[in-house]
Amino acid sequence: MKDRPRVITIDGPAGSGKTTVARMLARRLGYGLLESGSLYRAFTWVLLREAPELLDKPEEKRIETFLRARLPELRFTLEPEGLKIFFRGKPLSGELRHPETESRVSEVAALPGVRALANGILRELVRERPAVAEGRDMGSVVFPDAPLKFFLTASPEVRARRRYLEWRARGLSVSEEEVLRRIRARDEKDASRKEAPLIIPEGAVVIDTSNLRPEEVLESILQRLARDRP
Ligand code: C5P
Repeated sequence: MKDRPRVITIDGPAGSGKTTVARMLARRLGYGLLESGSLYRAFTWVLLREAPELLDKPEEKRIETFLRARLPELRFTLEPEGLKIFFRGKPLSGELRHPETESRVSEVAALPGVRALANGILRELVRERPAVAEGRDMGSVVFPDAPLKFFLTASPEVRARRRYLEWRARGLSVSEEEVLRRIRARDEKDASRKEAPLIIPEGAVVIDTSNLRPEEVLESILQRLARDRP
């Protein structure tokens, strides 16, 4: 395969399998794995930790100013294993997947000023190395010119089950019904927001992963890549 695209985008709702598949694809191609959600999660975590009062009555300008002022303390590196984020030299990982961070992230991600900040960082990172970019608006807003775009989806029940098993494996106790409720709430927020809502990007290949294993999804993406760029 020659002339591989610099960016391949994979968008979709929570639990659609996009992170798992994006990780497999990045590894296979030797690309960076740009998990854009981690950036929003990191912003949310820093806000919850350092200035939770700003989230009580979200004032966009103050939140944006606060995050911009924190940027020198945040560092990002793009690896095939994912987007590594450091705050004051310390790597963030479990913090970003914590249910509290997760339940507030959609509010933060809905703010246009915060998105503009995130988009600048994401585009900058891709200059360093080719990437598989996954999220909600990678193909529609951040990298609209990407030559290959995918949109993964699955039923809410399947997505809730996946997330429930993931949380349980990490020792977090929460019922499957509660996970489904949270997934539906987050979907609703992500799809109905004014700024960069979750949509199927123009030209994206849609894959329903409800009854597919990650390997099968990867295979169909690789086939598409080979077909487009023999
Ligand atoms: O993909 P992940 O579950 O890590 O995303 C966390 C949250 O970040 C999403 O629910 C969404 O609110 C936000 N997000 C976004 N745009 C992206 C990626 C994530 O708004 N491109």
